[in-house]
Amino acid sequence: MSKTWTPESWRSKPIRQVPTYPDEAVLNSVEEDLKNFPPLVFAGEARNLKKQLAKVVEGKAFLLQGGDCAESFTEFHPNNIRDTFKVLLQMAVVLTYGGNRPVVKVGRLAGQFAKPRSSDTETVDGVELPSYRGDIINGFDFDEESRVPDPRRMLTAYSQAASTLNLLRAFAQGGYADLHQVQQWNMGFVASKPQGARYREMAERIQDALAFMESCGVTAENTPQMGKTDFFTSHEALLLRYEQALTRVDSTSGEYYDTSAHMLWIGDRTRDPDEAHVEFLRGVGNPIGVKAGPSQDPDTLLRLIDKLNPENDPGRLTVICRFGAGNVDKHLPAMIRKIEQEGRKVVWSCDPMHGNTIKSSTGYKTRPFDRILSEVREFFEVHNAEGTHAGGVHFEMTGQDVTECLGGAFEVTEERLSDRYHTACDPRLNANQALELAFLIAEMLKNERGDGRVAATAS
Ligand code: PEP
Ligand code: CO
Repeated sequence: MSKTWTPESWRSKPIRQVPTYPDEAVLNSVEEDLKNFPPLVFAGEARNLKKQLAKVVEGKAFLLQGGDCAESFTEFHPNNIRDTFKVLLQMAVVLTYGGNRPVVKVGRLAGQFAKPRSSDTETVDGVELPSYRGDIINGFDFDEESRVPDPRRMLTAYSQAASTLNLLRAFAQGGYADLHQVQQWNMGFVASKPQGARYREMAERIQDALAFMESCGVTAENTPQMGKTDFFTSHEALLLRYEQALTRVDSTSGEYYDTSAHMLWIGDRTRDPDEAHVEFLRGVGNPIGVKAGPSQDPDTLLRLIDKLNPENDPGRLTVICRFGAGNVDKHLPAMIRKIEQEGRKVVWSCDPMHGNTIKSSTGYKTRPFDRILSEVREFFEVHNAEGTHAGGVHFEMTGQDVTECLGGAFEVTEERLSDRYHTACDPRLNANQALELAFLIAEMLKNERGDGRVAATAS
């Protein structure tokens, strides 16, 4: 069917969103260095994630993927990693309880450094400079020198990804993920929330369930699942030179794996089935995500799926839908019908962030909490109507108390956006907004399994 794949076969295909590096010699030497660096993840771990995602396809698990829009070199701090990890774990506990099924946890972390841009240049006060493309490529500051792509940034990104992953592994396996402790973290949010009663009730029931298990003798000491968790990493595989350099043959299976993360996804701007990004990812064994925005059509999606997952291997492919609130009904049913009718096995996940970005009257790029919630609700409703499984969610969020998205129970207003607007790229949910969303999705999951219907109540 397709021609022979090699780790560099993407280089002969048309490509979008690539930086132009001024110094070819430095670029080549960085790529050579990276090729000799240790893998960040192992093929067996990626296969384990694929197995867990296969459960999501069957409706026996739920996917939670979340983290930064863009990790940055300046925001790199253990507390930031810890806090994002913490919120993701809290969200997972709430979703596990609501959905009564395991939650597969995947961070947009430890490698989410490259950003696709809608324009190659940015103009401020009449000055035009190349766009910022993420810290792995160039600098955020709006000056000529910062915006020149520098290949050495790939080495810094690798090193930051390695130490982030090291800390995440320690958190996930070293006792920090103890379910009792995770549940405790929730309580501040639940207690101080203005309309907390609804969340308090679920939080109390989770606590009761844990107390009951403890009384029965199920503890972190004797039951590893109580104290440890699987936590996976993912990022957009945009900078293919970096991805190729970290791609290695797995000695067990003889297959190629991209060892920069467990899961890689293809963005909405680079998902053309005949272009470089799809060519590269079709050849690696990792679980793959592919974004589907309003310009995706069902036939092209099917072609893309067949290119990326010719064996129709469940868990290999996640379709991450990002249509925008009010648009889900226009696009998703036709996609589901086409893909399900053809018998293709995919995880259907909902990214309610990228179709809901607006500019505030104060000039900030922001996202209203209500629109984010609406898109998730519409996603659940469509799956419910089609009889398919709403498999997961994909968020841009942080453990910090930023003011980047509007609304939520603590009501971030347009005037307050400037208080703590720290993102290097898109606006993220803060810790409270992320957790609140998890409670609301848990209610949807609960209703879905309760009477087969999605909750009709708005937040
Ligand atoms: C992203 O996930 O940060 C992103 C750029 O998304 P999309 O490709 O869907 O626009
Ligand atoms: Co983004």
